Parts: sequence; C-alpha cells; structure tokens
Amino acid sequence: MQHVQLPDTRLAVHARGSGMPLVLLHGFPFDHSMWRGQDPLADEVRLIVPDQRGFGASAGTTPESIAQLADDVVALLDGLHVTEPAVVCGLSMGGYVAEHVAVRHPARVRALVLVDTKLEADTPEARAARAKLAATVARVGQEALAEAMIPNLLARSDAARANPARTTLEAELDRMIRSAPVATITAALAALAARPDMVEPMRAVAVPVLLVVGAEDSITPPDCMERAERVFQQPRLLVMPACGHMAPLEDPATFNAAVLAFLREVAAHAGDRTVVGR
Ligand code: MLT
Repeated sequence: MQHVQLPDTRLAVHARGSGMPLVLLHGFPFDHSMWRGQDPLADEVRLIVPDQRGFGASAGTTPESIAQLADDVVALLDGLHVTEPAVVCGLSMGGYVAEHVAVRHPARVRALVLVDTKLEADTPEARAARAKLAATVARVGQEALAEAMIPNLLARSDAARANPARTTLEAELDRMIRSAPVATITAALAALAARPDMVEPMRAVAVPVLLVVGAEDSITPPDCMERAERVFQQPRLLVMPACGHMAPLEDPATFNAAVLAFLREVAAHAGDRTVVGR
C-alpha cells in the first residue's frame, strides 16, 4: 500500500502490475479489499485500487459529493504519474464515481466498466430512506448499516447459496461495513442522495463501456444496466448468473475473464496489442 497526498487529504492506494491502467473503485461503504478477487488482473494490466476518501486507510476526511470523489481519482492518477487515459471500473457507488470521472475528465478515460450500478439519480423515497438510515447510524453505529445491507448484498438463489465462498464473503462484507467510520457513512449517504441523474450526460461518453450486473442484484437490478445499455454509444452488457449486488466478489473468475476480454478488445481497437495480456 502507498499513500498519495492530495491538496486536502491523503489517499491510500494499492497499485501493482504494468501496462494499461485499470482503476477499481469500491462501493459504499467498503474499501479496496472488496476487489481482492481481482488481484490476478495485475498480471495483465496496471491495477490501481484506492480506498476512496473517508474509507479504509483513507479515513480522515469525509466525502462531500460524488463529483469530489471523481476529482480525487484524477488527482490520484496524477500523483501516480499515470498520464495515459485509464480504464475506470466502479461498483455501485464506485460506478457513480466512474460516471462522473468520464463526464468531468473525459481525456483521462479510455474505457468504463460499470458494475452493479445505475445512471439514474435517487427517487425522493430513496433519498428519504438514506436520510433515515444516516440518522440511525449516527445514533446506534455501523451495526445498523450492517443489518440493513448484509441481507441484500449477495444473491439468494439455491445456486448462489451453493457458493462455498459465501460465508467468508458475508463475513468480509460485514467487517468492512463495521470498520467504516460513522462520519464517513453519514457523509457518503448524503452524497449518494444528492448525486445528479447521469442519463443525459452519459450519452456524450464515446469510449467503450462494459456493463456488468448480477442477475440477482436486488439493489441495482439488471434492468438498471439494461436501461444504461440504451444510453451508451459503445456498450457491452454482461448479466452474471447466481450473483447479486457484489458480482466481482461472488464470481471473480467470470468477472475477471469478462474484464480481460473487454480490455483486449479496447487495446486491439486502438491498434495497441502490447498493453494487455503480453
Ligand atoms: C453501493 O453498493 O455502493 C451502494 O449500494 C450504492 C447505493 O446505495 O446507491
């Protein structure tokens, strides 16, 4: 792990490998360790996996907005001297951040991978639910968030329950939720509730986009990504069977293979055959 100093905070980041830069942005309220199953990708690309502002080892300041988290990504790339456009991949909240990077800093993005996420803003009901949850977490602590989230994160079908890694996964997710600072959780819930609708801005995104969703995602169900597919100019859609809201953790082999195939396509399209899978 290394730290990169930003003007107003310090971000922890795990960077490994060489070649095409691939940034992995975690969901709320997790940290870089949710991407552990993607470690093998570092054999093929330059993997950059931060703890976003306020989370994991980047605790200290709290996130103010999704746009701020997107600007942090670019400042991080600058700090790591990554000048070529990066592939930006984000899950759920990380997906919202990736969308904002593509709109705010288009020259820095070579392709997008949006995972278990959506383009639309919160409904008024969803905003109210976030405010209520934030108040509960402020009162009783992270346990309230773990109780609210854990039952909804993983797929629940018999096929999914047969996954031998399931118990470990649930324990890992629980650990991450309970170690997120309360101030980060409440600030991030407010930032999530305030995020703008990205449907129209995303129509201008001209880079290739891989959309991935768990077939059993109950938080951002497959129709969110199906709607997104109609917005982008160059979309590919992968619906992962027996996966829920945490598809890259639930089936890392399928996820990693899809990402690598996509990156090879992106590299080949640019006439650059050396950056992935040398
Ligand atoms: C996440 O996994 O990042 C959250 O579920 C995002 C959200 O609540 O919209």
